[in-house]
Amino acid sequence: MPIKVLTKNIGVPDLQCLHVYESLGGYQALAKTLREHSPAEVTEIVKKSGLRGRGGAGFPTGMKWGFVPKNTGKPVYLCVNADESEPGTFKDRLIIEKDPHQLIEGIIISAYALNCHQAFIYIRGEFVYGSDVLNEAVNEAYAKGLLGRNILGSGFDLDLMVHRGAGAYICGEETALLESIEGKRGHPRLKPPFPAVVGLYEAPTVINNVETLANVPHIIQNGAEWFASIGTERNAGTRLFGVSGHVKKRGVYELPMGTPLRDLIFDCCEGLREGRKLKAIVPGGSSVPVLTADQIDVRLDFDSIAAAGSMLGSAGVIVMDDTTCMVAAARRIAKFYAEESCGQCTQCREGTEWIYRILTRMENGSGRTGDMELLLDLCANMKGRTICPLSDAAAMPIESYIQRFPAEFAAHIQEQRCVVA
Ligand SMILES: Cc1cc2nc3c(=O)[nH]c(=O)nc-3n(C[C@H](O)[C@H](O)[C@H](O)COP(=O)(O)O)c2cc1C
Repeated sequence: MPIKVLTKNIGVPDLQCLHVYESLGGYQALAKTLREHSPAEVTEIVKKSGLRGRGGAGFPTGMKWGFVPKNTGKPVYLCVNADESEPGTFKDRLIIEKDPHQLIEGIIISAYALNCHQAFIYIRGEFVYGSDVLNEAVNEAYAKGLLGRNILGSGFDLDLMVHRGAGAYICGEETALLESIEGKRGHPRLKPPFPAVVGLYEAPTVINNVETLANVPHIIQNGAEWFASIGTERNAGTRLFGVSGHVKKRGVYELPMGTPLRDLIFDCCEGLREGRKLKAIVPGGSSVPVLTADQIDVRLDFDSIAAAGSMLGSAGVIVMDDTTCMVAAARRIAKFYAEESCGQCTQCREGTEWIYRILTRMENGSGRTGDMELLLDLCANMKGRTICPLSDAAAMPIESYIQRFPAEFAAHIQEQRCVVA
């Protein structure tokens, strides 16, 4: 069933402008929040809605907010993760560039729920246009009394700052993001303590993804039950799928959670390039295990994708047809993680580079007997042993490419060539 929540206004001319957003009902959810709800009620509504984080792990948003300790004497911070550096992922930028006030409204309501008076949008350095759009929208919101002191006469104060990163994938990891805002190197912190307790400037902090927070005004306006009725039981709402690769119509598509992958690829994207066959699908950004063509009927929600042996992650869907060499694809991904490892943990620093070197020699026809086993052993030793999951993110896809396409890797070693036409 086609349903649009986050993208319903995309395409309206000048939607970035406050008056256009307001003319479409924008900021009414904020007014309703401030008029009708206490902060605790807002958290309760978000909990009831079943909203789960759209940044990758799918953690329940209301529950995360509930972890913030009360009355510590310290400020509470809200940091919006607009880093979006995972290869294959380009859905947050749609909201940022086309409908920035939807995000800002979500931030203000969420900050109110958290008793937070200072929020940050951490945006990756490369999103120059996106940060300009956001800054413009933030300025307009201040001028209209939607940010700053005594918002809409409610007595609630909130400052919102757009903070540009310098372009490092690791700064999307929530604790590296906090370090970066503090002006330090983007090195992840050991957890616990979790940011909800000890976060930015050692104060309680919530980090949420752009798409997560953009859902909040709709939940307030239409009710928790309405939101929970979209999607499936434990996977409420819609999801923005950014589809790239070998399909006819690439782009961002909003679909209810639980929609079959087949519908996304063959209906929304109009199928594969002429005359080609589906080979593999990455369902949630480059860091998740790859799915094979026979898994095309899997449903696109956190739990179904996990049951199929992968992760919904950032919902960056990369489609590969039968012209794809899986060794070349694995090597390309390995290069990214080798470059982006922050270097703090040995397993990640050395492992990512080692994987890349082995795959490079395989692709060049110099693969050695035992290289597949060596790669699998390396991957196994890189998972669950580091400060942050970048190491897992590097290992999981490589492991899955070898396990699901072993003949191709073997041919690269035994025949010293690529067997893909
Ligand atoms: C290496 C790495 C990169 C990440 N990059 C992003 C990112 O670009 N955007 C994002 O929202 N979450 C990213 N995450 C997940 C965040 O750490 C965090 O879980 C998320 O922002 C929480 O928001 P949510 O609860 O709304 O999903 C990344 C995690 C890791 C380990």
